[in-house]
Amino acid sequence: MNFTYAQYQESADFLRTKLGAFVPKVAMVLGSGLGYLGDEVENPIVVPYGEIPHFKHSTAPGHKGQLVFGTLAGKPVAVMQGRMHHYEGYSYEEVSYAVRVLHLLGCDTLFVTNAAGGVNWNFQAGDLMLITDQIKIFMESPLRGENLPEFGPRFPDSSYLYTPALRDLARKQARKLDINLKEGVYMYFPGPQYETPAEVRMARILGADAVGMSTAPEVITAGHCGMQVLGFTLVSNMAAGVLPQPLSEEEVLEAAAAAREKFSSLLLACLEAL
Ligand code: HPA
Repeated sequence: MNFTYAQYQESADFLRTKLGAFVPKVAMVLGSGLGYLGDEVENPIVVPYGEIPHFKHSTAPGHKGQLVFGTLAGKPVAVMQGRMHHYEGYSYEEVSYAVRVLHLLGCDTLFVTNAAGGVNWNFQAGDLMLITDQIKIFMESPLRGENLPEFGPRFPDSSYLYTPALRDLARKQARKLDINLKEGVYMYFPGPQYETPAEVRMARILGADAVGMSTAPEVITAGHCGMQVLGFTLVSNMAAGVLPQPLSEEEVLEAAAAAREKFSSLLLACLEAL
């Protein structure tokens, strides 16, 4: 099934009735256990996903499932506390539906975050990684089906999905804050099972530095409609087979909680510097 432009507009119109004169400029997708920044939004207008026409629910642990509009670091933001994933049973179009709606509301920039497994030998759990590029070779594109030219072209360029100027800005802010910001390529796996050690070795050979189950679809959709994108991965654990121990959801959420201060300060500094 493909959504129509009218459906995206319907969602945006509904949200406008909640927002009054407020126009968000920066959309923020906060991943597993990373939703806390949404609680710091000033003058918040909170809208649960369930109230918004055509929106799906977020069922993953550590994902609240609501949009928070307001001011953060002086910028008008729309914060997604929790996202939708393909492994929850949603199509990629559904997974990235909100990005287009937030774009219609006025967002020209997307900050995207996730927790993921570290593949690069030089990483360790707790590291922050600036996403420089992504690999999504599994399954179809969120742009599959009839193109909606109101959003972008049939064959969008993917050379600069993660905006170079925003990457520079992030490096600068990390240096100022004395945060050791790693960099690398995020490779998408559909999940929900964590990867096997063999899949992680494959990912490394293909050029991945981290593996995770989100982000890539939303970023493709954001790039299609011309949004600038800044992406961060919290390396919540080393990917399967890197260390002689199994992976668990608890360690992912624990790592997210432990990184709270570092992650928040970096995101806020980047927002402020926009
Ligand atoms: N793999 C995939 N997704 C993840 C991981 C991982 O190791 N850790 C957190 N999300």
